Amino acid sequence: MATAKKYSVCIVGSGNWGSAIARIIGENVKKSDLFEERVAMWVFEEMIGDRKLTDVINNDHENVKYLPGFKIPENVVAIPDAAKAAEGANIFIFVLPHQFVEGVCKQIKGHVTKDALAISLIKGVDSKGTGLVLTSSVIEEALGISECCVLMGANLANEVAAENFCEATIGYKNAEHGKILQTLFHTSYFRIAICSDCQTVELCGALKNVVAVGAGICDGLGYGGNTKAAVIRIGLKEMVSFAKEFFGGGHDATFLESCGVADLVTTCYGGRNRKVAEALAKTRKSIEQLEAELLNGQKVQGPPTSIEVYKLLQTKGTVDQYPLFSTVYRICYEGLPPEDLVKNI
Ligand SMILES: NC(=O)c1ccc[n+]([C@@H]2O[C@H](COP(=O)([O-])OP(=O)(O)OC[C@H]3O[C@@H](n4cnc5c(N)ncnc54)[C@H](O)[C@@H]3O)[C@@H](O)[C@H]2O)c1
Repeated sequence: MATAKKYSVCIVGSGNWGSAIARIIGENVKKSDLFEERVAMWVFEEMIGDRKLTDVINNDHENVKYLPGFKIPENVVAIPDAAKAAEGANIFIFVLPHQFVEGVCKQIKGHVTKDALAISLIKGVDSKGTGLVLTSSVIEEALGISECCVLMGANLANEVAAENFCEATIGYKNAEHGKILQTLFHTSYFRIAICSDCQTVELCGALKNVVAVGAGICDGLGYGGNTKAAVIRIGLKEMVSFAKEFFGGGHDATFLESCGVADLVTTCYGGRNRKVAEALAKTRKSIEQLEAELLNGQKVQGPPTSIEVYKLLQTKGTVDQYPLFSTVYRICYEGLPPEDLVKNI
C-alpha cells in the first residue's frame, strides 16, 4: 500500500521568534505521521566571533545571538542558502522581519510548487502603490501560491521558549489546512485556536504594534496605568474600525482571540515596540537610532507599520477618524512632540 506523502517543513527565518518556533516545530514533527522529521531552517548568515551562526546552530543546537539559553532540536538543520533550505519543502513558515520577505521569496521561488502551503508569523504590513498590503498577500504573490495562512497571538518569544503557557490564533482560508497547521504548532503550553477570519487575525498582529508605540510613549512620559489603559482602549477601537473599513472582515469575536486583545495587552506592557517608544519619549532620538542602540540587530515594527497605515488613511481621507494611529506616525516621523499624543486622541 502506498504511503501518503508527508509534509516537509522549511522555517524561513531564525531570529528571536523563528528560533523559539523551531523548538516547537522540531518536536511536533516527530510526534505526527503527517510530517517529515527533518526541518530545514533558513538562517541569515552572520559571524559570531570567528564562527558562522549556522555552524553554531548545527553543532551547539542553540541560536546564541537571537535566543540564547534555549536548545533547538537536532532535527532542525540551519542552512545559509535560502534556495537550498526550500528544496523539497511544501510547508513554509515565514518568520522574519517583514522588510526582508520579498528578497527571500525571490531566492526560493524556483523551489516552491504551486500547491505549497505557507504560514506567516510576521507582524507588519507592506505597501504597494497607494494601498496597504498584508504580508501574507506579498508572500502568495511573490511565490505564486494560493494560500498563506497566519499565526498571531500574545507570544513574546522568550516566554514561549521558556514553555510558559500561552495561546495563539491561526487564521486559515482552507479549514483542512488550518487543522494541519494546528497539529504542527499546538503543544500543551502553546494552545492554538483556528479561525477563518484570516485577514483580521493578520491585521491584529500588525496594528497592535502601532498601539504599543502609543503605550511606550505613555511610559516614557511617566504617565500611569489609567492613561495607558485609555491608549489601549482607543487603539483597540481603531484596530476594529480599520479591519472593518478597509478589509471587509473584522468579526468582533476575532478580537477576543489571542491575536486580538491578548496580543495587544502584552505588547503594550512588554516587547520592543513599547521599549523603543519609551526611549523616544525620554530622549527624542530618531527611531532608527534607538533601534540600532537598543535592539541588538532586531527590528522594530510599530513605526514602519504606522507609515503604511497613515498612507492609506491619507489616500482614503480618513486620517481624522484614526487619531491614535496618525499621531503615532507623526511623532515617529514628523517631529510631533510625544506630549501631543494625549492631546490628539
Ligand atoms: N520576537 C518575538 O517575540 C515575536 C513574537 C511574535 C511575532 N514576532 C514576529 O516575528 C517576525 C520575526 O521577528 P523575530 O523576533 O524573529 O526577528 P528578530 O528581530 O529577532 O531577528 C532579526 C532577524 O532578521 C535577520 N536579518 C538581519 N538582516 C537581514 C537581512 N538583510 N536579510 C534577511 N534577514 C536578515 C536576522 O538574521 C534575524 O534572524 C517579526 O515580524 C515579528 O513581529 C516576533
